[in-house]
Amino acid sequence: MSHNTIAINQQRQPLNHLKSVWLFGYGSLIYKADFAYLNRKPACIYGWQRRFWQGSHDHRGTPEAPGRVLTLVETATARCAGMAYEVTPDTFEYLDHREKNGYLRVFTTLHWLDTPGQTEGVLYLASADNAAYLGPESDTAIAAHIARSKGPSGENSEYLLKLAAALREMNEHDEHVFAIEQALLKL
Ligand code: SIN
Repeated sequence: MSHNTIAINQQRQPLNHLKSVWLFGYGSLIYKADFAYLNRKPACIYGWQRRFWQGSHDHRGTPEAPGRVLTLVETATARCAGMAYEVTPDTFEYLDHREKNGYLRVFTTLHWLDTPGQTEGVLYLASADNAAYLGPESDTAIAAHIARSKGPSGENSEYLLKLAAALREMNEHDEHVFAIEQALLKL
């Protein structure tokens, strides 16, 4: 699959017939909500874990020197906390562009963190078959990769540090993110 997913997302999953859609953010969408939203609520999903396994050609790296950003990896026992935003369907024009580097929209169940209940929502998933996928590496190798990368949205380290700070603010522990943060801070 090409790493530019704008047209694929628009063709396979039109959303314009819906009044509003819940978007689940687990990476930069947690700390950088630069779009209009109707509601914002912390939520989690089950069966997925965050991993710095996706290459970034357009935000935190370049096509010649991709950065490392987050995707989700399926793991039966995992729980991943993030931020959910209720948005109008036209917001996906912007979001599809922002998340175009290998991410496909997927519907899944979101569980609220501070109130009982759940809803269906959309997240952006970069699976192993996209051309920008980088896959696993050790925490220290990922930290070194992040330390040397930058792109049009800024330093790759800023992505990691802002995410780690946002998770701490939510009282959420993410072993993968915090181990790579520690490795980066030691460099
Ligand atoms: C997300 O934040 O939910 C998707 C990955 C990213 O843009 O960092």
